[in-house]
Amino acid sequence: MAIRNLISAEEIASALSEMGKQISSDYAGQELIIVGVLKGAFIVMADLARHIDLPVHFDFMAVSSYGAATQTSGVVRILKDLDSEIADKHVLIVEDIIDSGLTLSYLLKSLAVRRPASLEVATLLLKEGIQRVPLNIRYVAFRIGPEFVIGYGLDYAGLYRNLPYVGVLEGVEA
Ligand code: IMP
Ligand code: MG
Repeated sequence: MAIRNLISAEEIASALSEMGKQISSDYAGQELIIVGVLKGAFIVMADLARHIDLPVHFDFMAVSSYGAATQTSGVVRILKDLDSEIADKHVLIVEDIIDSGLTLSYLLKSLAVRRPASLEVATLLLKEGIQRVPLNIRYVAFRIGPEFVIGYGLDYAGLYRNLPYVGVLEGVEA
């Protein structure tokens, strides 16, 4: 399958550095829990975190959507919950990509009831205009079209997560 380069490693590095600076200034003087949504977010999280100049705790969640593999149903099963309590803490969810937004919307609801001091989202990619739920995403590195992308944590059938750039997998429907 052909891969078309969409966002280079250099562009990603520079955008995550900017995002990290912005986060450091927005949360100045506070501690932050960054929550990575496995598996896709692990690379973004590792690179973004190294540009955040704050006391940071790391936690992870793993989720899986019910239903067909390529279609998000919006009903999400939590496979791994947070290790830490988040009441009265500042929580930043880190995502690789927001597509329909249904997975994230479900996660936000399930974390909001735990009464964090704040709950925001940082994502590497946002597919523009196709969210099926209203979402307020505080930090977005790149807005892209409705293509199916891989690399930098994003997979197709479990592969390509280790590509250092974001590419479009030609011939795969988004
Ligand atoms: P959503 O619930 O539709 O926003 O999508 C949730 C998940 O679907 C993301 O966290 C990704 O794991 C996956 N996903 C959506 N679009 C893509 C893509 O273009 N490439 C790879 N994975 C994707
Ligand atoms: Mg995925």
